[in-house]
Amino acid sequence: MINFRVNERSDLLLTDDPVKEFHAIAKENEDCNFLLFVTFHEYGEIKKCDLKGEKNFLLVVILDPNYSSSRLSDEDIRMLIECRNTPLEKDEFEFILKKSFSYFELQRVGKKNDEYLIKLMDMRRDQEDLISIGKALSLEKDPDKLLRTILLLSKKITGADAGSIYLVEENDEGEKQLRFKYSHTFSKEIPIEEFVMPLNEKSIAGYVALTGQVLNLRDVYNLPPDAPFSFNKSIDLQHQYRSKTMLVVPMRNHIDEIIGVIQLLNSKEDIRANDGISGNEAFEIRLTSPEDFETKVVPFDSRYESLMEAVASQAAIAIENNRMIRQIETQFEEFVKASVHAIESRDKATSGHSFRVAEICKRMALAINEENDGVFKEVRFSNIEIKELEYAALLHDFGKVYIDLAVFMKGKKLYPKDFENLMLKINYFYRFVELQALLQNYNQTKRILDSEEIEYKGCNLDIERKLQSIKKIKELICQLNEPTVTELNPTDTIQMILGEINEILCKDIEGNVMEIIDEMARKNLSIQKGSLNDEERKEIESHVIHTYNFVSKIPWPPEYRNIPEIALKHHEKLDGSGYPYGLKGEEIPLQARMMAIADIYDALTASDRPYKKAISKETALKILGEEAERGKIDKHLFDIFVKHRIYEFVDRDSYRFSS
Ligand SMILES: [Fe+2]
Ligand SMILES: [Fe+2]
Repeated sequence: MINFRVNERSDLLLTDDPVKEFHAIAKENEDCNFLLFVTFHEYGEIKKCDLKGEKNFLLVVILDPNYSSSRLSDEDIRMLIECRNTPLEKDEFEFILKKSFSYFELQRVGKKNDEYLIKLMDMRRDQEDLISIGKALSLEKDPDKLLRTILLLSKKITGADAGSIYLVEENDEGEKQLRFKYSHTFSKEIPIEEFVMPLNEKSIAGYVALTGQVLNLRDVYNLPPDAPFSFNKSIDLQHQYRSKTMLVVPMRNHIDEIIGVIQLLNSKEDIRANDGISGNEAFEIRLTSPEDFETKVVPFDSRYESLMEAVASQAAIAIENNRMIRQIETQFEEFVKASVHAIESRDKATSGHSFRVAEICKRMALAINEENDGVFKEVRFSNIEIKELEYAALLHDFGKVYIDLAVFMKGKKLYPKDFENLMLKINYFYRFVELQALLQNYNQTKRILDSEEIEYKGCNLDIERKLQSIKKIKELICQLNEPTVTELNPTDTIQMILGEINEILCKDIEGNVMEIIDEMARKNLSIQKGSLNDEERKEIESHVIHTYNFVSKIPWPPEYRNIPEIALKHHEKLDGSGYPYGLKGEEIPLQARMMAIADIYDALTASDRPYKKAISKETALKILGEEAERGKIDKHLFDIFVKHRIYEFVDRDSYRFSS
């Protein structure tokens, strides 16, 4: 039975001489066998004074801001229970208290101090190992590196020469199987490809994965006769290796499911060795000769059974977290791609555009990473930054979904329906003039017959001129409707046409004067270049704002925070002539400048845009080069685009979708 007393002394925090206070408290509590202090003082300061001189044994928990994780000496251990540089969580503090009480108990029943000391040092080391493993595993995002780290740390803890990781998985039929995922042997290069094996008790890993039992085997060549599993020596024989001692632990996740197995082989950590252990035997002792396997390989210390179980659980949780993160990322990426695909399917002309722009951007980033000279020698894109750029590129034109598709598909100055309508009106106009002429002839003939007039007042010449003029108007309108720049001045031509039309009043059946070319048609036919009028151009340009508004609503993780801005600025030009803000030079993020080149190149080489014919890659590069010379696009980036032949990576057919 242990009686304890809580003595809260917040005034200790204020004292200049904490050690003096410790002695005073020890004196006050002379009747206590052990004292446990929790203090905020620096350990170095406490260490200077001889606290061991006290009759009652002092145990001190110190929260030291300067404490580093370097191993404590035996002397420190005798005095210290715990030293931390971070605030203690409630459960950590409970753990320390439990540890303190078990120490009190050991002291009370009179266990030898050395034995205790070894145990305490082991506990401390195990605890530190577990904490550092937890941190290391939680930081690792790459799944392959994660497995390597798990194995490396497991080997380091146990002094194992080799190790393997097996993961439980389901095959296409929904049956569970075991995948040999990764292995490493320190003493020998033994390359083993990933393979799958049945999940049953016949193999050691399978047995552990199914039963959840930890196996600590002294010699895998001499297994107990009743063991359901056996050891396959073929790899040993192939590589002149000798597998001997083995520790196999299940990896359990947070819901106690076994998701894999860690198998460690040939411990070299001989705790009975005269010169002690270094803690790094796994990577210091090489097993080369057959004698080495006899003399240097030892059984795995039994304490590693529970420690490795704890490590394996941490590993399992890290693997599952990693899987979940990747699954969420993959699902999100697929969702983004499916959405972009759906939008691009609306318009065959732009099908695959965003995917190609994303691919070009990614290639440019990788090319910049290779640059060791010039303006990009210090620019390096991390994998996350490349992913950020890819997402921005995939979504850069997403805002087009808010814009009337007809505007995008407008290949000529008049929409097809409007053009058709105008042609009908002109045909009507032509027939109207023809009919007028016929009527005039008829009336005149009638008058001649009625009044026996013999003089014929011909008007055919004038009619003929009018009809020719209407034919010419029709021709001119067809020419004006083309988006290409012609020798015709659209404004002057349309004025001339209107003048001609006004000379001949065309009437409908009610006798109202018909407007052959309405205001909208006049406006569109007066477009100087391309097929869009100012409002339509502005509407199309607004896609970047729509993109920004849409993309900003996505709760991106912090590492992708630049996506909305990059996507927003992909139509800005270095000389300030771009949109939506007319930004200049460095005001435009590098990624947006990269995207501008990818975007223009793909738009130029697109084979079937309604408003222009596809141009060859040589011509596209020439145009881009001229844009760079004119200070519109980034010349250095264009040089990278050409130097690394990035345009060659984009296979147009592989991004073409059937709707
Ligand atoms: Fe765009
Ligand atoms: Fe685009």
